[in-house]
Amino acid sequence: MSASLFTPLRLGPLELPNRIVVAPMCQYSADDGCANPIWHRQHWAQFAMSGAGLVVVEATGVERIGRITHTCLGLYSDACEAAMARELSAVKRLALPGTRFGIQLAHAGRKASAQRPWEGGKPLGPNEDPWPTVAPSAIPFDAGWHTPTALDDAGIACVREAFVAAARRAVAIGFDQVELHMAHGYLLHEFLSPLSNQRTDRYGGSPENRLRFPLEVARAVRAALPAHMALGARITGTDWVEGAWTVEDAIVLAGELKAVGVDFVCVSSGGIHGGIRVPVEPGYQVPLAARIRQGSAIVTRAVGMIADAEQAERIVAGGQADQVALARALLDNPRWVWHAADRLGARITYPPQYARVAAAQWPGARLARPDDFAILQQAAK
Ligand SMILES: Cc1cc2nc3c(=O)[nH]c(=O)nc-3n(C[C@H](O)[C@H](O)[C@H](O)COP(=O)(O)O)c2cc1C
Repeated sequence: MSASLFTPLRLGPLELPNRIVVAPMCQYSADDGCANPIWHRQHWAQFAMSGAGLVVVEATGVERIGRITHTCLGLYSDACEAAMARELSAVKRLALPGTRFGIQLAHAGRKASAQRPWEGGKPLGPNEDPWPTVAPSAIPFDAGWHTPTALDDAGIACVREAFVAAARRAVAIGFDQVELHMAHGYLLHEFLSPLSNQRTDRYGGSPENRLRFPLEVARAVRAALPAHMALGARITGTDWVEGAWTVEDAIVLAGELKAVGVDFVCVSSGGIHGGIRVPVEPGYQVPLAARIRQGSAIVTRAVGMIADAEQAERIVAGGQADQVALARALLDNPRWVWHAADRLGARITYPPQYARVAAAQWPGARLARPDDFAILQQAAK
């Protein structure tokens, strides 16, 4: 029987060759939002030929002030669009057949204006060219963070239009999918969670009101995308805090997103406030994805500590999620998909220049499998 992980998937209008997705990963290597011709090209190129069915480009700020750091990608200017178009078209020439490319559109809200992780990841200090941040309410992310300005109606409309404008640029660049970032404590998540949204107008208070702005963004972006492009959202399965955002809320959100034409959700969690303990362990967000998939019947992507081929296969074959996204495992080993195919007995296409590493042609390649060391040791006795 063929491995479920390597069966095709329909993601709205998109046909993907398999269930493996390169998760969005900030690289903090852009120049005023523009993709870097060396770093981004090599980063995307390795995943273009990784064999993953879908490669999702990192969180990309729809406004300059919506970037997390000075060096996050953006899609708020003609220069950003031109740089991204140049790099994407270059790496598409390396892509394995059927590989699709998506982009995550984001606004960092009150978590913007921060240092790069390797510089401390703290809010920018007075000598680091900080900028004013915005959020649903004037509540900082944590002690010592910038106090954001609460968006008024005009500000909310501006952000919505910024998402639409960036989505239009993503269409022009040639992406196949747009993913809206509604997780990790960034702006759209800040509207959803009662911890960060304490508004008393129609964008706050009741669960219905807290969903209003993210749904407005989803509806407006869907209207701006052509029918051949998939739209999804990375949502949060839980805030990991009693009395805050729960998986039941996420099921409602997923159902509402589906109703406005969103094709899939990717289920992550956490990040709404500093100091919250997240019980990280292998596959820790998969049960959340399974609940949301069952409760809303939307195509669901699981992510988080999925690192092993058999583990990924069990998630898809067992119906906990339709797809899996991997971040660190693919950074660590961009050939993860090739090796997973080998382990699960699936056939994949190699770039012809590298076809001779296929296990059938070069038994040495199979040494990557732990079982093979055991077999060799046995044979040597
Ligand atoms: C270097 C790095 C950058 C990340 N940047 C993003 C991002 O841009 N958007 C996002 O939603 N998640 C981001 N994440 C989170 C990953 O997409 C993923 O959800 C998380 O790492 C858990 O998956 P993993 O255990 O496979 O790494 C990032 C993770 C890493 C390691």
